[in-house]
This record gives sequence, C-alpha cells and structure tokens, in this order.
Amino acid sequence: MSQAVNKQIRLASRPTGWVAANNFSVTEEAIPKPADGQVLVRNIFMSVDPYMRGRMNDVKSYIPPFQVGAVLQAGVVSQVVESKYDGLKEGDLVTGMLGWENYSVTDGRLVRQVRSGPAPLSYHLGILGMPGMTAYVGLTKIAEAKKGDNVFVTAASGAVGSVVGQLARIHGCRVAGSAGSDEKVSLLKSDFGYNAGFNYKTSKSLTESVQEACPKGVDVLFENVGGDIFEAALWNMRDYGRVALCGMISNYNMEDPQPGPRGMMLIIGRRLTIRGFIVSDHPKWCDEYVRKAIGWLKEGRLTYRETIAEGIENAPQAFIDMLKGKNTGKQIVQLADID
Ligand SMILES: NC(=O)c1ccc[n+]([C@@H]2O[C@H](COP(=O)([O-])OP(=O)(O)OC[C@H]3O[C@@H](n4cnc5c(N)ncnc54)[C@H](OP(=O)(O)O)[C@@H]3O)[C@@H](O)[C@H]2O)c1
Repeated sequence: MSQAVNKQIRLASRPTGWVAANNFSVTEEAIPKPADGQVLVRNIFMSVDPYMRGRMNDVKSYIPPFQVGAVLQAGVVSQVVESKYDGLKEGDLVTGMLGWENYSVTDGRLVRQVRSGPAPLSYHLGILGMPGMTAYVGLTKIAEAKKGDNVFVTAASGAVGSVVGQLARIHGCRVAGSAGSDEKVSLLKSDFGYNAGFNYKTSKSLTESVQEACPKGVDVLFENVGGDIFEAALWNMRDYGRVALCGMISNYNMEDPQPGPRGMMLIIGRRLTIRGFIVSDHPKWCDEYVRKAIGWLKEGRLTYRETIAEGIENAPQAFIDMLKGKNTGKQIVQLADID
C-alpha cells in the first residue's frame, strides 16, 4: 500500500443535515519535505470519530471548525519516513493529530512515539487512545462509578461504549446497554462485559426496555446518544444518580437542535448530577489509564473490536458509515502497511 503521491481528503462544503460523500473532495499533491525540527511521516492508521461531524459546522466550540478547502484532521498512527527532528528517526512509529492524507509533515514535538507491542498499533486510536480514555474518565472520574452501582450505557457497542461495559465490570458494577442491532446486543453480553442489553431500534418502549435491562434502576448513566433514549434512561435513574454526558450522536446530523429531553423535574426530585465532559480536558489520567488498560488487555480482562476500512479514498464513506452505526467497536481506516 505504498504511494508515490500524497492523496488527501478535504472538506469540499459544509453539510446541512446528514453529511454526504459530496461534502468531501480528494486531491493529490507531491509528498512534502520536512524542514528543520520537522518529520515526514507515512500515515498507517487513521481514526474517524463522531466529533468530526461537529467540526464540519461553522460554529464556535471547544475545538475550531474544519475549514472548507482544507485537509481534514484526524488522529493517526504513522511511521517516520524522514526526520529533521532530533527526537525521532526513520522507521519510528508515532501518533498524533495529523491529516486525512497518506503523508504528513509535522513539528516533531507534536507527535508521540509509540511502540509495536502485544497490542495492535491501531489500538492507539481506540482502546489505548482517545476513546478508551473517554470511557475511563467518564465512568470513573466524572460519574465516579463504584462497586455495586447499576450502570447504563448508550451506543454500548461502539469505540467508547464497548470499553465502558468492560471497565464497569472490572470496577464491580452491574452494567446494561443499548445498541442498534441484535448482533451488537449479543456482542455486548458475549464480549463487552454487559449483564444485559437491548436493541433500541426494535424496542416498543425505550423506558420499559431500560427498566427491564436495569431492574434496580440506574445509578450511573454513561450517555453517548441523547434524545429519546436519554429521556428513557432519566426516567429510570435512582436517587442521587450521576450522568456522565459524553455525547449526543443522535443530534449531530440534525439541522436544528432537538428539544428535550422531557422529565427534567426528575433531576430535582431524584437529586441527580449531570456532568458534561471533554476527554482532552483530563490529560492527567492518561498514563494511569494506559498502564491499567495494557495490564487488563494482557490478563484478558479487556477485549476490543475494530471495523477497518482500507485506503484514504474510502475514509469519507467509513466516517459516514460509522455515524450510521455500520461499525462495531472502533472505526479505523488503514492507509498503508508498516515497513
Ligand atoms: N466527550 C468526549 O470527550 C467524547 C470523546 C469521544 C467520544 N465522545 C462521544 O461518544 C459517543 C460515542 O463515540 P464513539 O467514538 O465511541 O463512536 P461509536 O460508538 O464507535 O460509533 C457511533 C455509534 O453511534 C450509534 N448511533 C449513531 N446514531 C445513533 C442514533 N441516532 N441513536 C442511537 N445510536 C446512534 C451507532 O451505533 P448503533 O448501531 O448502536 O446505533 C454508531 O455505531 C459519541 O456521541 C461521541 O461524540 C465524546
């Protein structure tokens, strides 16, 4: 999968409603040269993540919007091709926030070296990277889940949700989740540590489905979806319940913000705490989490799934597919093989 030119994916136009293939363009450029202090890297794996949809809108947020005409940014795992930075040499493997492209030039200080070890390299974009950290920070630091808690997770079979279930079990919780197909619900129970789960697409009453999955109620809600399922989970919260508000993917492709959820009075009556968080605000937990996660992976207490698309030109479709739920576990795009 070695390329002679640098193929890149740019934002061609801002989506209104659902993002589509024509919001992206493919361009080709000569492979860039690094200047002093920089490295040229060949990107091996690239991450597509839900937050990227928000960056396609021209709105002020915790991270600047993508610019129309510019190469999109993504978390990548890459191999150094040429180094003019003292800290890295040809062949080194690194991770960082670079482009939707085959080759990137970057300041050597902006990437972090990774080693190929027992875990696949792509895990640095998933369970050992941002999504895994999100699961850990949200569950243990934001919601402060503790032994005996009843945890409910939405988008439970995805990159973040599949880790939350397993971490909840490791921390002595009972955990249930919702996902968008019967196959995914089976995986929740067989692979991702969940005690119970249901398919929200075929549920007749989301409130009753949460109740059946969490018969004692919900102490900790790890919310990834928003909308109706968030409302259904709120109705099932126990007194002094905590909500880690991680994402609202059901809203990301809507032209207008969704009203609700209803039942906000519950927050008072049941003395709930609802706390939104952004994982990048919590770097201090990174080393602790990665050290623990590597240990749990080695012991077989953590497992991970990936859905891998191939080739930079297929990155836009992989991104759209992930937003539509075609992924199980982490959606990755493989751009090249390691030399
Ligand atoms: N706060 C933070 O710092 C932070 C960091 C990372 C991620 N997040 C958030 O965490 C959530 C999960 O992210 P991820 O990277 O792990 O993605 P993911 O779960 O791997 O992929 C997205 C999943 O969302 C589900 N989904 C899409 N539309 C939905 C809808 N209308 N209703 C219900 N489910 C829907 C789909 O699964 P189904 O088949 O089950 O529908 C899809 O597979 C997102 O909301 C994301 O924005 C937040």
